[in-house]
Amino acid sequence: VITDVSAREILDNRLEPTLRVTVETGAGTGRADVPCGRSRGANEAVDLRDGGDRYRGLGVRTAVGNVEERIAPELIGTDVTDQRAIDDRLVSLDGTPDRSNLGGNALTGVSVAVLVAGAATLDAPLYRYLGGVDASALPVPLFDLIEGGELGASGLDFQEHQVVPTGADSFSEAVRRCSEVYHELGGLIESEFGPASLDVGDEGGYTPTGLTDPRDAFDLELRAVEECGYGGEFSLAVDVAASELYDPDTGTYDVMDERMTRGELVDLYGDLVDGYPLVSIEDPLHEEDFDGFAQLTDALDVQIVGDDLFVTSPDRVQTGIERGAANALLLKVNQVGTVSEALAAASRSRRNGYAVQVSERSGQTADTWLADLAVGLNAGQIKTGVSRSERTEQYNRLLEIEAELGSAATYGVDAGPCLTDR
Ligand code: PGA
Ligand code: ZN
Repeated sequence: VITDVSAREILDNRLEPTLRVTVETGAGTGRADVPCGRSRGANEAVDLRDGGDRYRGLGVRTAVGNVEERIAPELIGTDVTDQRAIDDRLVSLDGTPDRSNLGGNALTGVSVAVLVAGAATLDAPLYRYLGGVDASALPVPLFDLIEGGELGASGLDFQEHQVVPTGADSFSEAVRRCSEVYHELGGLIESEFGPASLDVGDEGGYTPTGLTDPRDAFDLELRAVEECGYGGEFSLAVDVAASELYDPDTGTYDVMDERMTRGELVDLYGDLVDGYPLVSIEDPLHEEDFDGFAQLTDALDVQIVGDDLFVTSPDRVQTGIERGAANALLLKVNQVGTVSEALAAASRSRRNGYAVQVSERSGQTADTWLADLAVGLNAGQIKTGVSRSERTEQYNRLLEIEAELGSAATYGVDAGPCLTDR
């Protein structure tokens, strides 16, 4: 049973505060750091911040207080492995649809720390506690090699230009190839844009100033892939994060210094899919455009991922399924606030033929529960950035899991039709 729940204010990769929650049982301890998004969906659970001058308003002392004073007394004495009941309790204690009372960050920290403590109490690795003996799928990583939008200083409007090692035979081979391509691309970027362009964005991908057209980013990535000898072994993917480009007043999107209508943007996607090995497009349209998502899903034979569209909410996933919007879920626990709701969103997606991509946030720490979550769900896909420790620790944990699983480990088979059959 749970004997203590505590929280602290710590720092994330942006040197901004976030929460670290610890759950103790007599038999084990669970600790979880809470990630934080910058390009956030309007329908996400509220990230509770203190305001005021301290940490420029971003302090999380209120959320820490909520964990220790309002949540802890309710959870002490309960069975740590009863994740569902604990998450239901958290949701009802908060009592708001957007988790603005206790804070989505407070809820997420407690819910994930309970999960980690459950695994520790049973002395099982987190991925196995979550997925049982069936948990064996190492995810295909989507490497955000070139960043734009809110997360990078480049002139690119699309937020992430990812390479996908679909042709690798194993996870470790995939990571090795991505590392080689990343450094090859660095050389290309340095010779084209100068050494100052080797800075990285929030997810550890390059963000060279001077690039504006996604095609130029794709060309650079494909050149790096070719020069490493992996021609045809990589696919491309993007996260457009289109809500950030959308102007509700005019109903248009600001892309490459043009105001594009939905139709023009859809045509652009058609051209990109025709001209490039592009297999996955995340948030191609703004977060309330279920109809547009449905049209695009129908028109293009690629993966259409709902991030801000679904915000990992089982209800919004249900709406998507009913309307044929998207064919993949981006899963971020802190968008919804509890592990059980995220799992419900994932299983609802899976039952309806939607792929599941487990995702980091642009604000992260080196905590690796995300890697275990991906394997525990047999999600088949992960996006967790590129370089720097809050990213590479996820890969390191996945490499460790791959080694632990040995011949039981699979790669690619659970990634869904678009990332499996190029
Ligand atoms: P965020 O960005 O973590 O800042 O929300 C990542 C994404 O949009 O997928
Ligand atoms: Zn996104």
